[in-house]
Amino acid sequence: MTLSSLLKPESVAIVGASRTPGKIGNFLVKNILESGYQGRVYPINPREDEIEGLKCYPDLPAVQKKIDLAVISVPAPRVPEVAEQCGRAGVQGLVVISAGFKEVGPAGMALEKELLRICRNYGMLLVGPNCVGVMDTHTPLNASFSATYPRPGNIAFISQSGAMLVAILDWSRQTRLGFSKVISLGNKADLNEADFIADAAGDPETKVILCYIEDVANGPQFLETVRAAGRQKPVIIYKSGASAAGARAASSHTGALAGSDLAYETAFRQNGVIRARSMAELFDLANAFVTQPAPGGDRVAVITNAGGPGIITTDNIEKINLKMARFQKETTEALRARLPAAAAIYNPVDVLGDGGPDRYRSAFELVLADPGVDSVLVLLCPAAATDSEKIARALLEVQRNNRHKPVFGVFLGGEFLGKGRNLFEQAGIPCFTFPEPAVSAIGGMVSFARRKQIPADEPAEQFANLQPDTVRSLLDKVRSEGRLVLLGSEAALVASAYGIPAAPIHLAGTPEEAAEKAQAIGFPVVLKVASPQIMHKTDVGGILTNLQTAGEVRKGFIQISENVHRYFPDLAIHGVEVQKMMPKGDEVLIGLTRDVQFGPLIAFGLGGIYVNLLKDVAFRLAHRLTKREIRGMIMETKAYTLLRGYRGEKPKDVNSLTEIIARVARLAVDFPAITEMDINPLFAYPDGAVALDVKITIS
Ligand code: ACO
Repeated sequence: MTLSSLLKPESVAIVGASRTPGKIGNFLVKNILESGYQGRVYPINPREDEIEGLKCYPDLPAVQKKIDLAVISVPAPRVPEVAEQCGRAGVQGLVVISAGFKEVGPAGMALEKELLRICRNYGMLLVGPNCVGVMDTHTPLNASFSATYPRPGNIAFISQSGAMLVAILDWSRQTRLGFSKVISLGNKADLNEADFIADAAGDPETKVILCYIEDVANGPQFLETVRAAGRQKPVIIYKSGASAAGARAASSHTGALAGSDLAYETAFRQNGVIRARSMAELFDLANAFVTQPAPGGDRVAVITNAGGPGIITTDNIEKINLKMARFQKETTEALRARLPAAAAIYNPVDVLGDGGPDRYRSAFELVLADPGVDSVLVLLCPAAATDSEKIARALLEVQRNNRHKPVFGVFLGGEFLGKGRNLFEQAGIPCFTFPEPAVSAIGGMVSFARRKQIPADEPAEQFANLQPDTVRSLLDKVRSEGRLVLLGSEAALVASAYGIPAAPIHLAGTPEEAAEKAQAIGFPVVLKVASPQIMHKTDVGGILTNLQTAGEVRKGFIQISENVHRYFPDLAIHGVEVQKMMPKGDEVLIGLTRDVQFGPLIAFGLGGIYVNLLKDVAFRLAHRLTKREIRGMIMETKAYTLLRGYRGEKPKDVNSLTEIIARVARLAVDFPAITEMDINPLFAYPDGAVALDVKITIS
């Protein structure tokens, strides 16, 4: 059974249907009838013969007809037996409204597992439990107990919170928003957000996919799904639980284990999800996508009748992925000719406080026609002479014949501008009270348009000379010695096995051995105490640099041992590592950590000892990380300014860095046992780069 047939069933049974007004089982029957559902409906209740004019059956076997969908609203402990009956009767999908499962603790969790086992056993799909139900306005079908049924339209709304869902539906009645599908996910025991996003992506009745989620059920499935869906339609997600306190509330709410927000932020951005920062933004974005054409680029023109709002709008545009459009000479000349001398003819165009319909019309016509403009924001403030209705009419006349660019109204005020605002909204042009949400909506549309330009299937990166066997045996050896942190010399070998250039480094157990190793490497060398327990080696006198002779190395070995012994009298060290002293380069950092949901996260930024202070780091998920993404990641950091050649320095080899980061990502994907890795510093040179200090922790 596909999800579409779950939303377009030919017959529906309601188990736990009730005659009693106000009970969920009664709402379910009424809602499905009122939605205009054309299929057969079978209320099931052992104590009734008829409910809402429909024949009622004592149990499911009594129906003796094909049932596609069963909506279950009986107390939780009875749900498994009902599900079992559904399975035997050949029901294809269940929507379980009942609460009292995973969200209430271990006993509920066991009940939920039993329910899922039964569904899997019979090949039934399951929505919920603990949900409001599902709706499809094009079927039409309202298999929910929501008090409000939405207007038909092309927004699919998928919500993990039943309460947010019913609240939004109720609110949406005052707006022009229309929905294709509305899905309450509940506990997501079986079907989750990714399943419904994938379905909506292929659904001809859906233009925009909206989600409210507290977590994702399956990280890899989610990433693959949104990556593909986001190329076809905007996937806009509001994810709550971003703050530490919010994450705790989310876990007590639906028993969700919220992943870290950084990983979500990265996962969304890297895979084409447009992230809304509030419920309001979620629907502003939806409205923009549903009503406006896609912008051809990021250049925004602003028309205003007052300075202040123009400045606020400009600030907001420049804060995000948008630019203020630069008009062509012809446009500014025409604006100069048609507007009063005091008017501003560059972006933002200011038609002045006494600007009426004619000035707005002229400015709008000219700006809309300028090839350097991709979208237009029309601001209107209520000056004494402002007639919002006439101005709106003038603007709409122009827009009627020019529908190829997105247009947004920002009518700053309330009642005084009400008529104009209504006209805009009736014409299907989003009209806001303040500039910020309008700018965010354009930003979201531009992100989506850009995403579509990226080639669909960027090939996976290929690497020559990977030696996974070497890494495996090194990790096995470390584990067999009961350690979880690799020595620097071991970590450098792991790096080298994946083609990550590391400065040669060898472990020495005695001063004599250290001198021999130094001789072999070539002078000058650096000595480092070999002890994973010591975090900051410099602070305890555990590092000596620029040693030029075998004698200095022998003495250095003894000095380091004594220094460390003074700080940590009881610590047994593994010896001293002898490393080739490398010429100075730009210090950068490459890191790896793991997220429970989305797997390895790769970090890049400024390296050295001030990493935590400067926090100049960008992140990407290792999952399908391409070199295009890596270059974007490098360019996001301040380190990039250094690497390009700061204050007359030679530019550094960003291609080598890109290759190294790609190899670290590959190592992370190939070896889930590597839980953390830090290369800091990595010296970047005009030609190549080399890792000086590699730390690896395994599980
Ligand atoms: N087959 C058919 N009918 C049955 C069966 C059965 N096996 N067992 C019971 N019934 C009937 C009952 O006789 C009753 O009918 P009646 O109204 O004629 O007496 C009806 O089914 C319902 O059973 P009740 O025991 O009366 O249960 P009640 O309706 O009080 O509650 C419910 C059932 C709604 C499922 C409740 O247990 C529940 O879970 N409520 C919470 C629902 C919820 O909040 N879901 C999450 C939404 S998300 C959000 O946050 C908004």
